Amino acid sequence: MSVPKVVFVLGPPGAGKGTQCQKIVEKYGYVHLSAGDLLREERAKPGSQFGELIENYIREGKIVPVEITCSLLEKAMESSGKEKFLIDGFPRSQNNLDGWNNTVAKRVKLLFVLYFDCPLETCTERCLARGAAGSGRSDDNVESLNKRVQTFLSETDPIIQHYKKLNLVETVDATKPAEQVFQSVSDIFDKIEA
Ligand code: C5P
Ligand code: MG
Repeated sequence: MSVPKVVFVLGPPGAGKGTQCQKIVEKYGYVHLSAGDLLREERAKPGSQFGELIENYIREGKIVPVEITCSLLEKAMESSGKEKFLIDGFPRSQNNLDGWNNTVAKRVKLLFVLYFDCPLETCTERCLARGAAGSGRSDDNVESLNKRVQTFLSETDPIIQHYKKLNLVETVDATKPAEQVFQSVSDIFDKIEA
């Protein structure tokens, strides 16, 4: 069996990570694993040992301890039986990065980090619109969003800078409409797949 390939997908909340990942799945056949979605699924499981902890972290816009997130990612990778993964919303903090590097990193190849660059005001507006349209997310409100943005700046941005130093970041301007953003995304994946 060949070594599984991973692309990390990062960007502020509301940058369009999920939307673009869906399109990448359709065109390039990756498996989309959203750390946030996996945490929300785990939270929703009746009797989950971590349900309450996860809900508290999500509402506060804080990053859940990596042992939980990494094991959810690993389980999802294994049970997919596939070899190309988009890991969306991870690693979001130094703790996420350390936990990954000490475990899964040794068994996979990180291709690059796809970074959706978008002004924070635009991102916040998008999340609030998503909340108003009935996303049902307990963190698409002004209080949680302010915290999520702070967490992005203080915890996630340094991770993006870390990968930039390693020359592993592909940056996409995520302010444009989704179809145009996907043009830029496709240019990057066409290059990789070629
Ligand atoms: O990526 P998404 O916006 O869906 O993430 C929602 C929330 O899930 C984050 O604000 C955070 O509380 C939690 N999360 C986390 N660790 C990750 C990804 C998401 O704790 N790596
Ligand atoms: Mg998402």
